[in-house]
Amino acid sequence: MSGELSPIDTAKFVAAKRAVEFVEDGMKVGLGTGSTAAWMVRCLGEMIREEGLKVTGVPTSTRTAELARKVGVKVVSLDEAKWLDLTIDGADEFDQDLNLIKGGGGALLQEKIVATASDRMVVISDASKRVERLGNYPLPVELVPFGWQTTKALIEETLAGLDVLGQNVTLRLNGQTPFVTDEGNFIVDLHLHRIANPRQVSLVLNQIPGVVENGLFIDICDVVVIGHGSGRVEVDDINSGTHEEDRIEFVESANVFSDLSD
Ligand code: A5P
Repeated sequence: MSGELSPIDTAKFVAAKRAVEFVEDGMKVGLGTGSTAAWMVRCLGEMIREEGLKVTGVPTSTRTAELARKVGVKVVSLDEAKWLDLTIDGADEFDQDLNLIKGGGGALLQEKIVATASDRMVVISDASKRVERLGNYPLPVELVPFGWQTTKALIEETLAGLDVLGQNVTLRLNGQTPFVTDEGNFIVDLHLHRIANPRQVSLVLNQIPGVVENGLFIDICDVVVIGHGSGRVEVDDINSGTHEEDRIEFVESANVFSDLSD
């Protein structure tokens, strides 16, 4: 290791590098969004170029689609692919049951649709995102712009009846204006601090008119690959109940490390 990558980037990279070992020739693969998923897309590109791997990718955001094309991953829409073998994506938090909070990058809707349409979801993460209880990371909820303030008020009212520690709801901004998702929607972030019952919170939020989707991924993730700055990786499989440890040795080769702009 040359030492040019920070420990956090090394952790993300080794998680991604280990996760692409789940990809087999001919697979249709959901491509997540975010800085960790970007490493995974670059690793896939390298496998395609150097090992002749054939995969079809379904990106979960316009920025992932751009990166995938750039590194040589064939991109199709979910409707073209219909069903996927595997999705690899990052997360903002995960607990011991592999329930997740996602959407920090604003792509939660496509991410949830794509992950749900996959035989298997593998989450890649550094160790800082492993939590005992979800909720410290603000929970993103995607709303249609029409009547968004009313929808936000309904969310606040709903939170008062749920077992959560905080109830502050903020509109996500991009500078002075609302952040707009790939689907043209807004996002509010719910500062809950502790979510006692993530399944209930997810179900209740999605009942509110105007809510498109929330960032809780319940019973969707199968495997988490946790990277560490030392190059160590842990692989936890919720279905088999297995925990494996591995080490990724790598040199910062020109191909994967040439464009770190994402
Ligand atoms: C994107 O909307 C998110 O769900 C990301 O997967 C999540 O925020 C993790 O991103 P990083 O890998 O950049 O931390």
